[in-house]
Amino acid sequence: MNKNHIIMANWKMRLGVQESIDLAKEFKAKFKGFKKEEVVICPNTAVLMEVKKILRGSHIKLGAQNVFWEDKGAYTGEVSPDTLAEAGCEYVIVGHSERRKYLLENYEMIHQKVKAVLNIKGLTPVVCIGEEAAERKTDRRDFVLVDQLQEALGGLNVLKNQKIIVAYEPIWAIGSGVAIEPSEAEYAHKIIRLALNDMFGPRIAEENFKIIYGGSIDSKNVKGFVNLENLDGALVGTASVKTDEFFKIANILL
Ligand code: PGA
Repeated sequence: MNKNHIIMANWKMRLGVQESIDLAKEFKAKFKGFKKEEVVICPNTAVLMEVKKILRGSHIKLGAQNVFWEDKGAYTGEVSPDTLAEAGCEYVIVGHSERRKYLLENYEMIHQKVKAVLNIKGLTPVVCIGEEAAERKTDRRDFVLVDQLQEALGGLNVLKNQKIIVAYEPIWAIGSGVAIEPSEAEYAHKIIRLALNDMFGPRIAEENFKIIYGGSIDSKNVKGFVNLENLDGALVGTASVKTDEFFKIANILL
């Protein structure tokens, strides 16, 4: 049996309101009776509640693509973890590299966001880390990954009922159409796993953390990721806005 148990569709800013509604309906119909574990859709913020309504009666869960760290207040344009949970989200992507690039989000902010999300019962942060192409070429990847993990998660007191997903997303692979070699992904996941062991102790690292991969996953290359020892699932971008393609990936991976 495959050991992966989560697949997340990151629709990014690819779809408008009606398009998101239509795709959510297609997903619901396609995944009807899909008994395997966790399928999550992350639509844009404006359509979260509409998509949630459509997903009622289905096993598909809702996730958000971003969050702020305060509960309430004068923070124009931001959405709190509390509000996301109220809107029906169970997951939230934190610190995606596109936000780090275009919105200058840094790991200090990411750390605050993770902390705030963990305070909300039933909401799980999906923390993105990953190296640039140049860092990979110059053999700095291991250092970069550990450093990002420490900045994002260092000093957190993770309680028994709190879950955190770490998404390893090599920046050079995102949207490139070329995924990382599974063996290279497994190497990075192992580094992440060892760093989590060091930071939180093996028991918490094992029980409270999942590691997923993201970056140009499609129905052809996903087979290589099925049985990786340190992989629990995938975050899918480009291929997640095509129902049949995403369904195929989910069926192979989970
Ligand atoms: P991609 O995106 O599948 O298009 O590479 C993945 C992501 O950014 O989460």
